[in-house]
Amino acid sequence: MRVVSGIQPTGNLHLGNYLGAIRNWVRMQDAMEDGSTCLFFLADLHAISMPHDPAELKSATLEMAAALVACGIDPARSVLFNQAQVPAHAELQWLLNGTARMGWLNRMTQWKDKAGKNREGQSVALFAYPVLQAADVLLYQATHVPVGEDQKQHLELARDIAQKFNNDFASEDAPVFTLPEPFIPPEAARIMSLRDGSAKMSKSDPSEMSRINLADDADAIMQKIRKAKTDPEPLPSEAAGLAGRPEALNLVSIYGAMAGRQVADVLAEFGGQGFGAFKPALGELLVETLAPISARFRELKQDREALDAILARGAARARELGRPTLDATYRALGL
Ligand code: ADP
Ligand code: NA
Repeated sequence: MRVVSGIQPTGNLHLGNYLGAIRNWVRMQDAMEDGSTCLFFLADLHAISMPHDPAELKSATLEMAAALVACGIDPARSVLFNQAQVPAHAELQWLLNGTARMGWLNRMTQWKDKAGKNREGQSVALFAYPVLQAADVLLYQATHVPVGEDQKQHLELARDIAQKFNNDFASEDAPVFTLPEPFIPPEAARIMSLRDGSAKMSKSDPSEMSRINLADDADAIMQKIRKAKTDPEPLPSEAAGLAGRPEALNLVSIYGAMAGRQVADVLAEFGGQGFGAFKPALGELLVETLAPISARFRELKQDREALDAILARGAARARELGRPTLDATYRALGL
């Protein structure tokens, strides 16, 4: 099995990013059997398809790399790198642009959503980035690509590109590309704001009290949980009792996600108790589980040399793994 997955670099990482995205990668890595490899990359080349600030992109890329390592991605077991350091991604995209059809890209719902009515004003990169996504996975002969609902169409496109390329330029017994299978990762937790149970926890929320940051220390975590919005009722003893109580549901869900327990199981323990008892228990659980992560995160963020070395090693390994496919693609095209 070869799994390839990319993540957008983003700064100001919080508990939602951890439980909703980063932790899934750590679980994937830990579920790999001997001989299987995960390649995880920071999609910095994708970031330039939208207006962006170069200094921010650089720092977000490094911050995301630091967070991934702090959260448990092991650069000795998995290949961790950023796209921009592996030129084969951009090269292969260009080679695949000859195979991808305008009509296929025109049908991508993400393109339609992001471009809106102003298609003429968008970058070529925004239109073509699904081809870069195809290159990202085809380069490594990925067998499996984790995709959320919103990415299924792009993986389908990668398969179409691979199939057409193999048909047009390779013999049946020696295809250049593997058709990657999608796999839907176990449903990730969706974490809501601590100040408003109907809004997603997000770095764009102006209130610092709305989120737990990966870099928060114990005092900040305890304070944010103490001040989290709740209602006056005690916790119910069954999950159905959380209906219509989004703030309570969110706090119980966070507890469950951090402790690796079902909501029903958490309620079996805390049902009947008020938030005066539950919040300190939740705060302590968060402090205990996040302390090693945030300590390592802060340390790595300060150690630019260590981070650069991790990413350079990952990129060297990725270049090595991608080389045979890139060479075969050039050859097949008569280049
Ligand atoms: P933000 O909303 O803070 O800007 P991003 O949009 O940069 O976060 O998301 C980065 C990754 O983290 C995405 O995979 C996204 O699905 C995940 N994520 C962000 N916020 C949450 C949340 N509140 N709950 C679960 N997952 C989240
Ligand atoms: Na966002």
